[in-house]
Amino acid sequence: ELHVLNHPLVEHKLTVLRDKNTPSSTFRELVSELVMLGHEATRNLSVVAAPIETPVAPMTGKKLASPRPIIVPVLRAGLGMLDGMTRLIPLLIGFLGMKRDEEHPTQQVTYANRLPEDLSGRQCFLIDPMLATGGTLVAATHYLAERGAKDVTAINIIAAPEGIKYVEEHIAAIDFKVVVCAVDERLNDKCYIVPGLGDAGDRLYGVID
Ligand code: URA
Repeated sequence: ELHVLNHPLVEHKLTVLRDKNTPSSTFRELVSELVMLGHEATRNLSVVAAPIETPVAPMTGKKLASPRPIIVPVLRAGLGMLDGMTRLIPLLIGFLGMKRDEEHPTQQVTYANRLPEDLSGRQCFLIDPMLATGGTLVAATHYLAERGAKDVTAINIIAAPEGIKYVEEHIAAIDFKVVVCAVDERLNDKCYIVPGLGDAGDRLYGVID
């Protein structure tokens, strides 16, 4: 299931985000503010009845069900979306470090992970600004599914059609949803999204090498 956000504020923020003249500080701020993505992505969070008393009367409200959902930023660029997401909902946070193998862009190297062994019954949210080839998202989703996850939502800012197709072809047997701000034209020969916004990790945190 693919959901593309359609909102004038999202389009405005995304346009500033894409602009190559936007400095890192503003870029980081905008990525956090695009937390509106999280609102849409968390629409189906499980809740349970919660009896409380207001100063006026007893009532039955709703609270998040247990086990609490987990949010998994894919390092490094996914960290840029974490602050906004945690302001939205206090979730359990896991970490997954994956990067694409520059020689073979559809293959992934996992270089870090801090996740519960058992994810069964937990709604999982994978955050990563760019859905480019889809290789990272498929690998990360399989990683979660191997630990028992059956309900995974990917939250990305920009997706490429090629990545969406790859994900459609390689993820099955779990409840899987992708929420994005925009689907762009294509990937270039270096697997960057066109027009995209460049390297999200570099724009958030600077160029390391
Ligand atoms: N990762 C990025 O940061 N940018 C792209 O365009 C593609 C993958």
